[in-house]
Amino acid sequence: MRLSMLILLALLLTACGANSRPTHRSQITLVAPEALPTSSLTDPVLLDGKANYDLYCAHCHGYSGEGQIAESLQVTLDLGMITVPPHDSTGHTWQHPDQLLLRVTREGVVNPLAQYPMPPFAGTLTDEQIMNIYAYIRLWWTDEQRAHQQRVTERWNEIAQAPAATAQP
Ligand code: HEC
Repeated sequence: MRLSMLILLALLLTACGANSRPTHRSQITLVAPEALPTSSLTDPVLLDGKANYDLYCAHCHGYSGEGQIAESLQVTLDLGMITVPPHDSTGHTWQHPDQLLLRVTREGVVNPLAQYPMPPFAGTLTDEQIMNIYAYIRLWWTDEQRAHQQRVTERWNEIAQAPAATAQP
């Protein structure tokens, strides 16, 4: 009995490993996002988000959210270090709730494996400016990804408000 459980577990692990990226995108069908209408942006929230994204985030995450650019990417990979992830539909930003996106931007990411570690922005950007950046980043996602991100944001609030809360926004 125990042996068959182990074999089952091994099979499951192998199946997961076959498609191993540190994301959970497998249940989501990806649809090509529409062309980004950056030239015709008029919404003040999106304009503010774009201005601050271009100023504070784009040199690392890419001006179209494509992630670390190809030439420097190869150097980072050759060093065996972590590259700067994309924010567009190919990345995993859309998988995280607003509460965590705000927090990671306020606090930055201390990771010795990252060649270009992300600095904290708490003293530079207000929470509103940070959330405007994410309003802009959302333009790069598919409708399905936007809907998913909204669901996890709502879910995070529900869990955080529950009496036995484990989440810490
Ligand atoms: C100096 C380079 C650098 C800058 C500038 C930078 N980041 Fe990052 N960022 C990184 C790196 C590297 C990671 C990956 C950290 C890890 O996984 O250990 C990261 C991770 C993230 C993540 C988590 C991964 C994801 O996609 O969900 C978010 C969100 C993020 N950055 C948003 C921003 C925003 C918003 C800005 C601008 C306000 C910004 N970053 C500026 C380097 C940078």
